Amino acid sequence: MSLVTLKEILKKTIIEKYAVGAFNIVNHTMVEGILSAVEDKGVPVILNVAEAHLGIMDLDNFIPYLLDRIRRSSVPIVLNFDHGTNYKTIIEAIDRGFSSVMFDGSTLPFEENVFQTKKIVRMAHSVEVSVEAELGHVGGLEECSNYGQKRDNVFTEPEEAIAFVRQTGIDALAVSIGTVHGVYRGVPCLNYELLKKIRQMVDIPLVLHGGSGLSVDDYQKLVAVGINKINFFTGMSLAAVESVSVELKENVNAGFPEINLVAQKRIKEIVLEHLKIFGTKPI
Ligand code: 13P
Repeated sequence: MSLVTLKEILKKTIIEKYAVGAFNIVNHTMVEGILSAVEDKGVPVILNVAEAHLGIMDLDNFIPYLLDRIRRSSVPIVLNFDHGTNYKTIIEAIDRGFSSVMFDGSTLPFEENVFQTKKIVRMAHSVEVSVEAELGHVGGLEECSNYGQKRDNVFTEPEEAIAFVRQTGIDALAVSIGTVHGVYRGVPCLNYELLKKIRQMVDIPLVLHGGSGLSVDDYQKLVAVGINKINFFTGMSLAAVESVSVELKENVNAGFPEINLVAQKRIKEIVLEHLKIFGTKPI
């Protein structure tokens, strides 16, 4: 298979009620762990490269490897630029060969978010690149477990969501319904009723950010109610670190090649578990 767009990979997800995993990557170990899982199962995947991680990556070397690895893969893969904050970095990502970009204008006033997202959609669609954008704001580590109950205006408003999708022409909408990025402080408190309303009103795929730290039950409900793409990073990264730490305790002579394989194997296991829970199907 090969590089595909987000629009293409998510096209059956609403009707068939499943989600595609979007896993953030920062190095070869993560890529190989994730791809060996999806290739074993014959299902599609989204590889996210986050703008916030660019400082710890050398894109000049990493992107040619990624594009070549994707071309040689047996499954459809989206290379998605995650949480792009401005037009310039998004154009650069498109120039480098990303097949999808996420513009995160979620902290902007509604009209400004529409204006900037629309400009990016016009440019990206002219070169057949998909666009995801966020309405409402999914917070980070600083936020609390009952996010949205403690702060105003962070959850996605269904009426605004319809207007946002119509006015911008985006391919997928990232919603804020209670998840946060990173490790939760306490039990996540998700607003399924809100998600249900958004799903009834919006006819494009819905994206969940902050996918780590949720229970199997949460994931299954989210997918059943209408989430079509789940972004997942922290859980995978912590599991890989934990596996390395256990290996180092058990095998004091472990060298870098062994450690690398241990981390890759653990990432593969985590991805396999999540593909099953998300119900990901071949496209
Ligand atoms: P987590 O790190 O909480 O899984 O969130 C990942 C994410 O949403 C990337 O956009």
